[in-house]
This record gives sequence, C-alpha cells and structure tokens, in this order.
Amino acid sequence: MSRKKILHIGDPLLRAVSHPVKKFDLRLAMIVRDMGETMYGADGIGLAAPQIGLMRRLIVIDLYDEEGLRVFVNPDIIKAEGEVSLTEGCLSVPGRRGCVTRPELVTVRYQDIKGNVHELSAEGLLARALQHEIDHLNGVLYVDLMDYEVFEEEEEEEEEEALPQASEA
Ligand code: CO
Repeated sequence: MSRKKILHIGDPLLRAVSHPVKKFDLRLAMIVRDMGETMYGADGIGLAAPQIGLMRRLIVIDLYDEEGLRVFVNPDIIKAEGEVSLTEGCLSVPGRRGCVTRPELVTVRYQDIKGNVHELSAEGLLARALQHEIDHLNGVLYVDLMDYEVFEEEEEEEEEEALPQASEA
C-alpha cells in the first residue's frame, strides 16, 4: 500500500479529461486501495484519480458512515434536480473554501470494481461529493464554479448551513 502525492491547483493534469477505465483487474483494485489510503491520510471525504496524477475515470468517497469506502468507476450523472448552495473545499486547492451552487439531487450510473453497472440516486453530502469528484474527471475544479470564496470567520457565523469541517474532496 502506498499513499500518493496529491496534485495542487496549477498542475496541468488537474485540467485534463480522464480516460474511461477498461480493465477491471488487480491493478484497478490496487489503485483504489492507494486512493483510499491517500484520501484518509489527507482527511478527505473524496478523491478522484487525476488528483494523484492518474488520468482514469475513477473516484472514491467516504462520508465516514456505515457505508465505508465507496468506489465509483466510470461514473456519469444521468439525472440532476433542484439547486442548493453549499461550502466546498478540495484537497487540490489547499487552504481555501468556497460556496458553490449545484443540483441538489443526482442520479449516477457507474461501475463497481468488478465492472458491474449500478445506478445510485443521492442527495445531501453524497450528491455534492459525487458532483465535485466527477468534475475532477473532466478537468473542472470547484473554484471554476464558486459563487464566492468562504473565509473562516464567515463560515463560523453561518455554521448551521455549512457542511461538516472535514469536507475536502
Ligand atoms: Co476536489
């Protein structure tokens, strides 16, 4: 197992479009393991493969709930509804947070680590994390979409509306 270096904003790989995963083999399982370890090591709730320089359509999310590590291979948003503004952070944009308006509910079609196809409808923090991570696969960072930068003092005042502190992805 190994923890990988997380690329930071300014690195051109974060702006590239990732390629579909085609092989559901042992190597994929090892990449997922490394991504999990890297995400946990950085106290994140999500990580996309391009954040560690791997240009593959692969994301991991862990909301520290009973579900544990969630793996989404070749994820696509096939339905989006509503609108909600929430504070986001990103492991590739250290020290900053911003308010981003996105759809409130999304349905995602994805493959699991064995290649089986699934669909998942999500709301709340999971819907937000999925959209944030899938953006990474297309070279998009939350700072491209944010309504305004959120500073720490402001966030304390708006604490009730803010996401949990460990929400970097
Ligand atoms: Co991110």
